[in-house]
Amino acid sequence: MAKITFDGIQIEVADGSTILQAARQIGGSIVPPAMCYYSTLKGTGGKCRACLVKVTAGSEKDPRPMPKLVASCITPVQDGMIVENTLNEEVLSTRKSIVEFLLINHPLDCPICDQAGECDLQNFAFEHGNVKQRYEEERREFDKIDIGQYIKLHMTRCILCYRCVYTADQLTEKRVHGVMNRGDAAEISTYIANSIENDFSGNIIDVCPVGALTDKTFRFANRVWFTKPVDAHRNCDKCSGKVVLWYRGNDVLRVTARKNEYNEVIDFICNTCRFEKKETSDWTIEGPRKIERTSVISQGHYLEGTQVADFTKRVAQEQYKNIDDLPVQPPRQLSPDTAR
Ligand code: SF4
Ligand code: FES
Repeated sequence: MAKITFDGIQIEVADGSTILQAARQIGGSIVPPAMCYYSTLKGTGGKCRACLVKVTAGSEKDPRPMPKLVASCITPVQDGMIVENTLNEEVLSTRKSIVEFLLINHPLDCPICDQAGECDLQNFAFEHGNVKQRYEEERREFDKIDIGQYIKLHMTRCILCYRCVYTADQLTEKRVHGVMNRGDAAEISTYIANSIENDFSGNIIDVCPVGALTDKTFRFANRVWFTKPVDAHRNCDKCSGKVVLWYRGNDVLRVTARKNEYNEVIDFICNTCRFEKKETSDWTIEGPRKIERTSVISQGHYLEGTQVADFTKRVAQEQYKNIDDLPVQPPRQLSPDTAR
């Protein structure tokens, strides 16, 4: 075990843990943000620099400070290490620069982006960014392409976090896509015939922190903050079958995996559950989803006595028998054809 001090709080963590894992053990607002690290995928981290921290003492044996800020998601703890995150001005100002850097090429098209409301970059920019941007040069732009039957890639929004690459690599037998080229020319691409076809391909949509990979069955169908997330499960022979159903009225608009407080998938799900089971009768309803971080979605949801709380309670109790009686709003038409 190693004893470290993180933002003035002492904690003992297992040897080999990273600084970010130690901070997550403490929890709360002192945890550094992460755009590329993903605890359920091996090898992630070290790409985006969102999680930079200051190590003011390297270890008990060598208490010298580390000369530069370090990425907390890939830096292992040492016994006696002292780390500063929210207490350090240099960290906070550098994080503003990281937001600015990530937004150099990422378009500010949140009003028409399906990821709006559950976008890690949106949250990161809101919590840590500057209002102003200085970049005036030409930005990278790509055409949107279909990669497989269910997934749309909008490379212009990609921040090259590599999460989708690790997901495809680690969940499926064959490696079918990756990052081609380097530097300014780097892009996510499929190797063969622009297509990702396997039973777990839909998970790359869930791990994408921005709106670069989107669910074609949900694109422009609704805004997430108008939908009602409900936990449900089914017996599935390919995956855990534990999902979130996103309702608008009586309709299941999309199915996603469940995520933890850091917006990371807990159990990856198969394409059958995600794309082919969109009837309430396909599922056993468990109850309303507790939304931790994506505050836009959780706004006004699930307080006792509200429409949503009543809805999920009733569906859970009656197992979708009287669904026609539900007090629902008619779906709003959101189909900006030009943006598709
Ligand atoms: S497409 Fe999404 S998940 Fe993949 S590298 Fe780009 S931002 Fe990351
Ligand atoms: S989360 Fe640590 S570098 Fe991206």
